[in-house]
Parts: sequence; structure tokens; C-alpha cells
Amino acid sequence: MSLRDPEIIVALDFPAAAPALDLLARIDPSQCRVKIGKELFTRAGPAFVEDVAGKGFEIFLDLKYHDIPNTVAAACAAAADLGVWMMNVHASGGRRMMHAAAERLATLSRRPLLIAVTVLTSLAREDIVEIGLAGTPGENVLRLATLAQDSGLDGVVCSPLEVSALRGACGSGFRLVTPGVRPVGAALDDQRRVMTPADAMRAGASYLVVGRPITAAADPRGSLDAINAEVAAALAG
Ligand code: C5P
Repeated sequence: MSLRDPEIIVALDFPAAAPALDLLARIDPSQCRVKIGKELFTRAGPAFVEDVAGKGFEIFLDLKYHDIPNTVAAACAAAADLGVWMMNVHASGGRRMMHAAAERLATLSRRPLLIAVTVLTSLAREDIVEIGLAGTPGENVLRLATLAQDSGLDGVVCSPLEVSALRGACGSGFRLVTPGVRPVGAALDDQRRVMTPADAMRAGASYLVVGRPITAAADPRGSLDAINAEVAAALAG
């Protein structure tokens, strides 16, 4: 099976390059993208990102930049130089920060996608009250996603439970990147509010971030193939 625009982004949540490379040797870059986050990036560095890109994998560099506009724009340009496909910033950095980052990337011949984190799903209502935000987490997610779209960003990271409302509010072209998905029967690990890959796609997700159901599987390729088949069936149906 060859996919033109794979929906699955495999989260490379490994503490070092070696186990990540072992996993990459067992999956096919035409069947998925990969996500490199703060731990692996901090341990393995930019050279590792270039190495993974050189193997043909499209990379979502999940470093969630949040700083003054000039600093974030420069960091985004540096990430683009590594050849990544997608990167992210915190929407709470504000309109000028997001706009500066989007404008800087727009000058590049091969522009990566730029998406935003709205409200971290680890924050409950009392946490957002404590940091001074009015309204429910859901209201803040919607406001920050709209702000990200207005600021020229390509999409947001969101929980499966937020996909449907955000798809309605932000329209069809806005990328919704959704972790917290589990195939039927898979271990939940530390995820609490999950959806199946099929349900998340039907709700309007663009891409699904999947970690342990693939990375901890005895047969990662088989697990990825099964999830891709489930997604293809959901999109066809
Ligand atoms: O192993 P699992 O499928 O739970 O991995 C999900 C990935 O998505 C991890 O890299 C996790 O940090 C990330 N993520 C998440 N929930 C969020 C945001 C990111 O699970 N709200």
C-alpha cells in the first residue's frame, strides 16, 4: 500500500537515537510521518533530525516554541533549515509571535507547516483559572485556535474530543493534528479520553499522532498497517 499523504504521525518518544533508529528501520516512510519531541531532540540533536529526514521520513518537530516574536521566528527558520515537514508554537505566545513565525516561514522556498498548541490537555479548569484565563478549557481552545488561524498558521494540535467543534469553527483547510487515539483493544497507557483512529478521522482530524500502539508493538509495521487500513476505511466510508 502506498499513501500519498499519510495521516499517521508516529511519535518517536525514545530517550536516545539508537532505539528510535531501530524503530525507523522497521517502518516505511511512505506509510507514516514521525514526530520528534523535546526529549529526543534534546538528547540526539539537530543532526539526528537531519539523519531521519535523510531516510525519507517527513518530520513533525514538536518543540512548542513560546518566546518573543523575533526569537520564535528565528527558531522556526532554524527548524525549517533542518528539513522538517511541520513544527509548532504555543498560541498563547499571541498574534504577533505567531504572525512573525508564519511570515518568516513564508519566505522559504520549501515552507514547513506551522501549527499551534492551544491549551495543554494536562490543564484542568482549576489550572487555567490559576494562571488567569477566564472561561472553560474548551472556550480557550476555540479562541486560541481561531487566533492561530487569523495569525496565518496552518492548524492546531487538539484532542480527539475537540476535533469536531474546531473543524466546524475553522473550516476544511485547517489542519487538526490529534493525539490521544487508540485502536480498539489497544492499551490506553496514560491516555484517558481517547478515540479510535476511525472515529477521530470521521470527526474531522487531518493527522493522528500515535505513539505506543506502534512503537511498543511486537510488530510495529503490522500495527501501522492495521491503523492505516482503519483510517482508509473510515475515509472511504
Ligand atoms: O504513546 P501515545 O500514543 O500516547 O503518544 C502520544 C504522543 O502525543 C506523545 O508524544 C504525547 O506527548 C503527545 N501528546 C498527547 N496529548 C496531547 C499532546 C501531545 O498525547 N494533548
